[in-house]
Order: sequence, then C-alpha cells, then structure tokens
Amino acid sequence: MKTFKDKVAVITGAGSGMGRYLAVLLAKDGADVCVCDVNEETLNETVEMLRQYNVSVSSHLLDVADKDSIEALPQKVIDQHGKVDLVFNNAGVTTGSHFKDMDEDNWDWVMGINFDGVVNSTRAFIPHMINNTEAAIVNTSSIFGMVAVPGQTVYHATKFAVRGFTESLALEMKETNPNLQIHCVHPGHIGTNIAATARMNEEDFNRDEGARDSIFTRNAPKTQKEMGDLFREGGMHPSKAAEIILNGVKKNKSRIFIGLDAKLLDMSQRWFPRHYHKTWKFFMVPLMIFRDKKPLKSLD
Ligand SMILES: NC(=O)c1ccc[n+]([C@@H]2O[C@H](COP(=O)([O-])OP(=O)(O)OC[C@H]3O[C@@H](n4cnc5c(N)ncnc54)[C@H](O)[C@@H]3O)[C@@H](O)[C@H]2O)c1
Repeated sequence: MKTFKDKVAVITGAGSGMGRYLAVLLAKDGADVCVCDVNEETLNETVEMLRQYNVSVSSHLLDVADKDSIEALPQKVIDQHGKVDLVFNNAGVTTGSHFKDMDEDNWDWVMGINFDGVVNSTRAFIPHMINNTEAAIVNTSSIFGMVAVPGQTVYHATKFAVRGFTESLALEMKETNPNLQIHCVHPGHIGTNIAATARMNEEDFNRDEGARDSIFTRNAPKTQKEMGDLFREGGMHPSKAAEIILNGVKKNKSRIFIGLDAKLLDMSQRWFPRHYHKTWKFFMVPLMIFRDKKPLKSLD
C-alpha cells in the first residue's frame, strides 16, 4: 500500500496503547479514522488527540465481543465516511491466572474479545473491502501466538488462533483478491495498559514467585497496580509499535514482528521447537534493559 492519505481506517481498542497511536499516526498521514473502544473515557481522550489533524474522525463505543455491534459497524462507517479501506482488529485483553485457578467467565471474556472479536469483525468488513483498489485487514496476534509461557493459557489459545486464522485467510485472499492485504501482528513487550486491566484472581498474586516468573510477570509483583506499572514502564513505547505496524502494512509484510524480543523469541522456537524456553536467559535480560521506551520524536 503506497499511502494512507485519503484512506478510511477503523481501529478497535483505540482508547489506549497501540490502538490509540495507530489512530494518531494514521490521522497524521491523512487518513480518516473511525476509533472504537469499550471504554468511553479513554476513547474520548483519543478523539481529543486526533483534533489537531485535518481529517474526519468518528468514534464508536462498542464491545468487539458483541456480534451484533460488530456486524452493524461497517454500515455505520460507510454512512459516516463513504467507504472503508483499513481495519485494525487490535482490541485485546488478558488474564494472569493459571488454568486450574481460572474462572470460566474470564476464559470466555478473553476468547470473546481476542478471537471472536477478530473473526466477527473480519467477516463483517470483508464484503465492503474486496472491491477496493487498495485495502488491508490487520489482525493483532502476539509473540505469544508463537511461543508459550505459563499463566497465559487463554491468551495463547486466542493469539495462536488469530495467527492461524489470519495466515489461512491471507493465502485465500492472495488467490482470489490480492488487492486486500491481510496482516498478522506479533508484538513483543509493548508498554501499554494491558497488564493493568488484566483480570486476575487472588491466587495469581499469592502464587509461588518462581512459578510466576515469566516474561509477563517477571518481577513477580504483589498487586495489580504494581504489575500494571511495571509492565507499562518496561516495554517499547506504543507509538513506536504503531509506526512499525504501519510500515509493515505499507511494505505488505504478512507477519509483522514488533521489537527485538519478538524477533528473538520467534527465532528461538524455530531453532529449538521443544526447548526454546531454555535459550531465553541468554537474551531476555539485556533486552529488558535496552528497550526503546521513548515515544516517537515526530509526535513531540
Ligand atoms: N502490550 C503488549 O506487550 C502486547 C504484546 C503482544 C500483543 N499485544 C496485543 O496488542 C493489542 C493491543 O493491546 P495493548 O497492549 O495496546 O493494550 P491496551 O490495554 O493499552 O489497549 C487495549 C484496548 O482495547 C480496549 N478493549 C478491551 N476490551 C474491549 C472490547 N471488548 N471491545 C472494544 N475494545 C476493547 C481497551 O479498552 C483498550 O483501550 C491487543 O490485542 C494485545 O493482545 C500486546
């Protein structure tokens, strides 16, 4: 895709993190943006940030797990903006519980947003995009769609599923509608609010430290606030992640990895499919120290 100028982009989960900066960078590049989120307050903050750009902006308070809302969205976007060219299925959540301690409601919550939300949105938007000269659907998986750690069973289930779904769809579209680009995004650790809003049980903070010492909860925080702050402060800035995603779309990369951590973790599972965890101690600690935590300079 040569340019985002005059395109119409839909972004789910645009109230925070990577979704917010995808909206900002797309607007900066001259795209009209339709921002969606389940959180009204943070969605409005994103809309405020978009006011400085001379593009048309619409916002939709919606839950991507609600099939009726997602099915109704394409027509609303077309009524407001005339067309839709880009869809970023970015909204996502997690829990920190081990499977045996996890409430079934929390399992369903993550499945509904991270997987069903992506599939239902893709299904709803494709008919409105296949005849465009240039269009893209960008589904966010994770590096946790490539490798697995304890305490993230449902997150892995959704992110491996998003990857499988998206890669198969990409092959289908290449055969039938190559104008519609299909991308799968695999971020490493990005400093966003996802850990702060994760649904946790009491057991998750009382578990033996060794068992909780994954990349996700590496310093075994004792409270959700501590965990959320550590996670936000320790990752790549989401504006940089959003820039990498958009460059990947421009270059038509089917898999978009974000961060050296994601690239090395992916490499570890290719080279050591059964023992990749054992290799991580050689590169994860230095990577945590030298992460790109500053926002994009161009947004100053
Ligand atoms: N942060 C990371 O390290 C990381 C790594 C790999 C993948 N990801 C993925 O990146 C995507 C973006 O997450 P982020 O890290 O920017 O997190 P974030 O928490 O900062 O942003 C996620 C946004 O999604 C919204 N959301 C949650 N449930 C929703 C629902 N039901 N309907 C609509 N919106 C909803 C939230 O309100 C929030 O604004 C997610 O799919 C996440 O799984 C994140």
